[in-house]
Amino acid sequence: MTSYNIMLLPGDGIGPEITAEVRRVMAWVEGAHGVTFNVSEGLIGGAAYDAEGVPLSDATLARAKEADAILLACVGGPKWDGKTEYNKRPEAGLLRLRKELDVFANLRPALCFDALADASSLKREFVAGLDILFVRELSGGVYFGEPRGIEALPEGGRVGINTQRYTDREIIRIARVAFEMARKRRGLVHSAEKANVMESGLLWREEVTKLHAAEYADVKLEHILADNCAMQLVKAPKQFDVILTDNLFGDILSDAAAMLTGSLGMLPSASLGDGGPGLYEPVHGSAPDIAGKGIANPLAAILSFAMALRYSLDMGDAADQVEAAVSKALNDVRTGDIWAEGFDRVGTTGMGDAVLKALAQS
Ligand code: IPM
Ligand code: MG
Repeated sequence: MTSYNIMLLPGDGIGPEITAEVRRVMAWVEGAHGVTFNVSEGLIGGAAYDAEGVPLSDATLARAKEADAILLACVGGPKWDGKTEYNKRPEAGLLRLRKELDVFANLRPALCFDALADASSLKREFVAGLDILFVRELSGGVYFGEPRGIEALPEGGRVGINTQRYTDREIIRIARVAFEMARKRRGLVHSAEKANVMESGLLWREEVTKLHAAEYADVKLEHILADNCAMQLVKAPKQFDVILTDNLFGDILSDAAAMLTGSLGMLPSASLGDGGPGLYEPVHGSAPDIAGKGIANPLAAILSFAMALRYSLDMGDAADQVEAAVSKALNDVRTGDIWAEGFDRVGTTGMGDAVLKALAQS
């Protein structure tokens, strides 16, 4: 019997609640597909800081590196904001994990489920059928660039410093992922940067152009300034297929796109490197305001598991089933974030129940 090692990192806030629903879906896949998931749990973020004094311990990291796939929920919250050393804040654990695994390619599909087209802040006709794939560079750029820090100025006062930095190699490897993905989709890549104000953006544009001409001339490439991309996402989101962008712009643009799909509670992501385990996490945060209330939407976490099935475990059929079950569940029940007149309002477990019911019928 095939078995896979799965590392679960529930993290903070709503993380443990939504992870519990993912576990139920995992159990269904085990039964239906005759595989075994050897699950190991670990601490990350504020939970790790409280228990171990660091947001990601070396021991947890070592275990994560051994896994076939890592399912992370979310980190952070007011309990730690400004109350821990900056390099030990919950987010630092997540950034260390991404960096150490070198998962440079963050795939964020922004898909508008038909049932949710009315939950979007845009009119139905702008978002129905929306299917964008963000390819966000995840292990470089201003998130990691040196020098960084807060320093005292000789003349008095202080300066905060971060560095946006991209090598040609980093640009080429992420651009390659975007072009490959576009080939399997509608064959269009928008590459978003700020070549008009940043040298790193200019290099980005030059390297993407070169790679395109040399190897991917069959894919249509459009360069777009990141600010214009933000505007176009709200104006006419369906013009996009794949959006290739850097770490910071990708963070911002993917949140904007998430809202187009109805709720941030719906968006999964996969972070992949060259070999090594993939890291799967919902795009949303730890939602401390609703943590522990049993009302969080577990679908982004469940859809992230579906991405793990597809990209790390070679179980595309099971991934299709889970995605279809999510779509089906949305016809009956809704958590608060996507609730609309005429639907049963359920909590986290109720949504899990609906997905499992749909899976049982698949
Ligand atoms: C994301 C999050 C993270 C990021 C935070 C939690 C560090 O916003 O995955 O989009 O900025 O990358
Ligand atoms: Mg973000």
